[in-house]
Amino acid sequence: MKVLIISGTDHKGSTYNIGRLLAGKITSEENISEIFLPRDFGEFCCGCTNCFGKSERECPHFGKLSPLTEMIDSSDILIFTTPVYVYHATGQMKAFLDHYGWRWMVHRPEEKMFSKQAVVISTAAGAGMKSAIKDVADSCFFWGIPRVYKYGKAVMEARWDHVKPKIKKSIEVKTDSIAKKILGYKGGIPLKTRGMFFIMSMMQRNGFNEADAGYWKEKGWTSGKRPWK
Ligand SMILES: Cc1cc2nc3c(=O)[nH]c(=O)nc-3n(C[C@H](O)[C@H](O)[C@H](O)COP(=O)(O)O)c2cc1C
Repeated sequence: MKVLIISGTDHKGSTYNIGRLLAGKITSEENISEIFLPRDFGEFCCGCTNCFGKSERECPHFGKLSPLTEMIDSSDILIFTTPVYVYHATGQMKAFLDHYGWRWMVHRPEEKMFSKQAVVISTAAGAGMKSAIKDVADSCFFWGIPRVYKYGKAVMEARWDHVKPKIKKSIEVKTDSIAKKILGYKGGIPLKTRGMFFIMSMMQRNGFNEADAGYWKEKGWTSGKRPWK
């Protein structure tokens, strides 16, 4: 299984370390890849909307984004790690996800997404994990990923090496449990995803724009085909 860690910071803090611990329980070292933000992508969406209305290739940042898109597409498991910054995901994680608005089910979802699993991990000193996780999990759902695990942990520290052994032990237990679920996953598309896809397939019969409508038609999704088996 190929695992990609997408880290919402450049440094290897508590959140990254939890992601890495989990990745090591799912697969071998050589199957783990990493993206660090903003090191590997630090652009802000400029709001041109070219990606929606014309093509993602018309995004001014397409050249920088496409190698990362390839990493996402070729991975089976996506592990997003973001510390809580003022109750939300980090700005660089949000800026990265903004660049994939065109891949939401409402526009042009990538069919490979429907067979992946994702994990969203967030740590805080005390609170804010729920809203930070939602910032990322919303994209996972609307990208079409059928299984999204969420793990928020208040580590009570600003540095991983200061995190108390009792908390680290609970992280071991939780990551064991998530890894087990991931490895035992047999596939299947939840009702919520099926329902959303159905609504989109109706809306795309006329389409929001030519790029989206043409994409759905070409895939056969407006005439009953689905991106899953
Ligand atoms: C800019 C900034 C904002 C933060 N906001 C919060 C917050 O809203 N709630 C909280 O409990 N901790 C907050 N923290 C603390 C971090 O979320 C916490 O230390 C986290 O575990 C750091 O993860 P990391 O080691 O992966 O960087 C903030 C830290 C920074 C640098």
